[in-house]
Amino acid sequence: MTAPLIELHEVTRKYDEGPPALREVSLSVAPGEAVAVLGPSGSGKSTLLNLVAGLDRPSTGTVTVDGIRVDKLGEAASARYRSTRIGLVFQFFNLLDDLTVADNVMLPAQLAGTSRGTAHRMATELLGRLGVGRHASAYPGRLSGGERQRVAVARALMNRPALLLADEPTGALDTASGEDVMRLLSELHADGQTIILVTHDLVLAERCATRTVQLLDGRIAADSAMEPVR
Ligand SMILES: Nc1ncnc2c1ncn2[C@@H]1O[C@H](COP(=O)(O)OP(=O)(O)OP(=O)(O)O)[C@@H](O)[C@H]1O
Ligand SMILES: [Mg+2]
Repeated sequence: MTAPLIELHEVTRKYDEGPPALREVSLSVAPGEAVAVLGPSGSGKSTLLNLVAGLDRPSTGTVTVDGIRVDKLGEAASARYRSTRIGLVFQFFNLLDDLTVADNVMLPAQLAGTSRGTAHRMATELLGRLGVGRHASAYPGRLSGGERQRVAVARALMNRPALLLADEPTGALDTASGEDVMRLLSELHADGQTIILVTHDLVLAERCATRTVQLLDGRIAADSAMEPVR
């Protein structure tokens, strides 16, 4: 058996008030899996994703990704972990509006020390592959939601992350653009990219996930393998 890429062991996340957002969640994800995390609002989906991304720490339990104990990283190491191992995609794209599309996509590589020339070549290649190459020198404000999300995915892939994390990437998109972004994720998965995708939409999840994890009140209520529908 391959070593898991992600291993959560009895992870609990409590806040000062209210019930725990996650309760003793254990989860193991192999390299190459595409996992959809589903569940009602407040069930702990974003909390789970943030813990894997090192954006948050568990109250108890351990989070290991790619051999790294993410729950133990200090601030600088955590930022380095995100920039080298993780690609993040959010509902509202989080692109910088006063940088061009190409500059947005180049940013993670430049922050990791890649020269501007090399970063530009990589960004151009990725934007082309993701079908938004012609917008490279435009500003994000001119693009449609679906195009912006493609740009955000390009940015997330820039440093060739072991893991792509997406929290409701279609949440702000119309149906057709949402399907388009899901198709893109499913193509990336077919190319071997490990993906964790948080979504409300089971139909879209079925398009690209090979496994669904259902959260309910901070616990895993179901965990099932599935055949992707294409
Ligand atoms: N900073 C915080 N302080 C206190 N409680 C929080 C905090 N962040 C999240 N919670 C609580 O933790 C629970 C899980 O939140 P989480 O954001 O993980 O849910 P979610 O499944 O992503 O929901 P949604 O589908 O609405 O995005 C919720 O009850 C939420 O109110
Ligand atoms: Mg959420």
